Amino acid sequence: MSAALESYLNQFSESDWLDTLVSLSSEIHPVDRNATQIWFRFFPLAFRRFIESEQDEADLRRSLGLLGDYDLADQIDSSHRFLYGHRFWKTVKAAIEAEAEVFRDEKPELADEIRQVASNIAEKLKVDVSLLIGITAVGFMTLNQVGLEKFKAAAGEVEKPTGVMAKSPDAIVSERNRDDSQGLLGFLRTVDKKFTVTYIDKIDSGKFQLINDEEIASASARDQSKNWRERDERCWEGVVPVECRSASCGTCWIGILAGEEKLSEVGRRERRMMKIFGYNQPENEKPILRLACQAKAYGNATIAIPTWNGVFGKKIYGNVEELELEPVTTSAKKLRETIASATSGDESTS
Ligand code: FES
Repeated sequence: MSAALESYLNQFSESDWLDTLVSLSSEIHPVDRNATQIWFRFFPLAFRRFIESEQDEADLRRSLGLLGDYDLADQIDSSHRFLYGHRFWKTVKAAIEAEAEVFRDEKPELADEIRQVASNIAEKLKVDVSLLIGITAVGFMTLNQVGLEKFKAAAGEVEKPTGVMAKSPDAIVSERNRDDSQGLLGFLRTVDKKFTVTYIDKIDSGKFQLINDEEIASASARDQSKNWRERDERCWEGVVPVECRSASCGTCWIGILAGEEKLSEVGRRERRMMKIFGYNQPENEKPILRLACQAKAYGNATIAIPTWNGVFGKKIYGNVEELELEPVTTSAKKLRETIASATSGDESTS
């Protein structure tokens, strides 16, 4: 019986899933509204289907300029740690496995299927269903991408939330919306205002300070409190992985969990490059995915840092534009070569 749920989920395209998320958006608590959308961009279905069709991992890494851990199957229990609903994962996972056992060849709307399972979990846990819709959608998509066998084999264990994530959902939203006080004479300050960027990455969460109107990646580089490289080899400087710092490589992509309205508008080059890199998000002046080397902040922001990066816009979505590679650091030479090979054969610019 369990194969019926997998077949049912398999019929939906990435666009179907993203449309479903839009229709569910108002039912997801604000604490996880951006986070759910971001997760679906960090782990795109079209990307998964493409990599499954490729035989050789080394070729795949080279052709898409992949760095870091892009395989959702390695991160079934942890990929969603930036969602509030992450804490409910064990129950969500068990509920989806139970659904796989009883699911028949029905054809419910995808949104209704997610709603139904989320509300069963909410009843069991005695929490509001708005806190479960996002993580339940993530659970279904995880099953869809990794298959029931691997899904079931994951332990389902998650760490206890700490810091601000240990607070109530409303308290987290309110804290994320606040800006740092600039002191009694703060209204006189201009360039020397300071703000906080809160991050959640694959290992833990923390904060770094940002000077008003500074790029997020530059602010991250000034935080030398940890050996970032030891945590993630893409982190040459701070916790945000960087390479070119000129919107040429896509290493620094981040999700904006909160505060996107306090970031600089997306410039023409950043917009174009995000399309080339393959971030399948609506055109918007303040989108939820940004390049940290381009996005400046003039207020507090909360970000999620993905475990991988690559250049997949052309191969996955057919976004054919020509990359303008810029002179960058010597350490980026190899990366530039892989990006060049990832985009070779582009026929046109737009
Ligand atoms: S560091 Fe290369 S695009 Fe931002």
